Amino acid sequence: MQDFDAVILGAGAAGLMCALRAGQRGRRVLVLDHAREAGAKILISGGGRCNFTNTGTVPERFFSNNPHFAKSALRRYTPADFLALVEKHRIAWHEKTLGQLFCDGSARQIVAMLLAECAAAGVEVRLGHRVTDVSRADRFRVDTDRGAFAAPALVLATGGLSIPKMGATGLSLDIACRFGLPLTETRPALVPLTFAEEMLALMRPLSGVALPAVARIGKLAFPEAVLFTHRGLSGPAVLQISSAWREGGEIRLDLLPGRDADAALLAAKRARPRAEPRTALAELLPQRLAQALAAAQLPDRILAEQTDKDLRRLGAMLGDWRLTPSGTEGYAKAEVMLGGVDTAALSSQTLGAKAVPGLHVVGEAVDVTGWLGGYNFQWAWASGWCAGGAL
Ligand code: FDA
Repeated sequence: MQDFDAVILGAGAAGLMCALRAGQRGRRVLVLDHAREAGAKILISGGGRCNFTNTGTVPERFFSNNPHFAKSALRRYTPADFLALVEKHRIAWHEKTLGQLFCDGSARQIVAMLLAECAAAGVEVRLGHRVTDVSRADRFRVDTDRGAFAAPALVLATGGLSIPKMGATGLSLDIACRFGLPLTETRPALVPLTFAEEMLALMRPLSGVALPAVARIGKLAFPEAVLFTHRGLSGPAVLQISSAWREGGEIRLDLLPGRDADAALLAAKRARPRAEPRTALAELLPQRLAQALAAAQLPDRILAEQTDKDLRRLGAMLGDWRLTPSGTEGYAKAEVMLGGVDTAALSSQTLGAKAVPGLHVVGEAVDVTGWLGGYNFQWAWASGWCAGGAL
């Protein structure tokens, strides 16, 4: 059996950040991962360019049963701190939109940076290890198919359940449970929404159509793009709102943000009475969508023969389209998992389990889930950094 000061399960965003900080503090650290490559989700993130943080990071942009929990870690390790590391490694970056920072080149540079920092700090990263058992006597013991390892500290950093075909597992949740830590409900988030056949008959032929919109549930509103798919709706605005959606509930879409749709339709009726409604609508919306909505919502007549009431009804719908999804595309398509280890069981300073000294949980396995746009990596860096500082 080999001894370390800390064993970290998961060589992803949070695990590597935790490891490099603990290594820099002189700890003997082992990172174990079952994958052949470290940081697999970093590599595919942001379309291969890794949206590695968001300059607008504030605790309000995270979902958690305890909205205050993330404050401490996010304050102690900020987007500017991660950017300083990126710049130290001379990785070129740019701001795309809404504070989202991406690599100019490749997400591979971020993984290489983390591994270089780990190597410089003497961290051992062992890939291709299948964890077969975890137990605790005077120390934690991790059994794998390639040997056993022991340490007084164990960090659960194996992430969430999204994209199982990339090797995502519930290992951290299982181990947390075994040590008596409570979990909150977990569900796919930042995920496309699906619709039942009646609505799909309208949406499916629109697959590929995208437009700027606002997606809303209650007071939460995301002004970003909406994309029609062959199963329903996707695009950043819908992915964002999916994190707040629950079965049976509705989402609301404003397809004409900042415009008064009924006024525009009534004005078109006065100005061009002989025009088809779809022609007038096509000045406001993508053509295929205009055509489909005109056909579904209005009688097949020229504008002059439409009643003002019908035009107002269509206008109201365009500004506040209330839709009830039938479900989501699930973990296979979800960018993240909502929920995880209940923050009530963890210290917000160290991410350590209050009742199990030496056990820490970081990253997506914790019940802290960010908006789309670099927030989830910022949580992974911040939580990993804080735990690494406590090992
Ligand atoms: P992460 O998933 O990074 O790491 C977990 C590690 O544990 C992996 O290396 C895995 O192999 C290992 N592991 C899992 N089970 C194991 C087991 N049983 N035994 C051993 N090892 C095990 N976020 C963001 O902020 N900006 C972005 O651009 C994107 N883009 C993006 C795209 C796509 C397609 C996805 C799926 C996700 C994103 N995300 C994102 C989300 C982001 O990738 C995610 O929130 C973080 O990677 C979470 O970091 P963790 O370290 O917690 O888990």
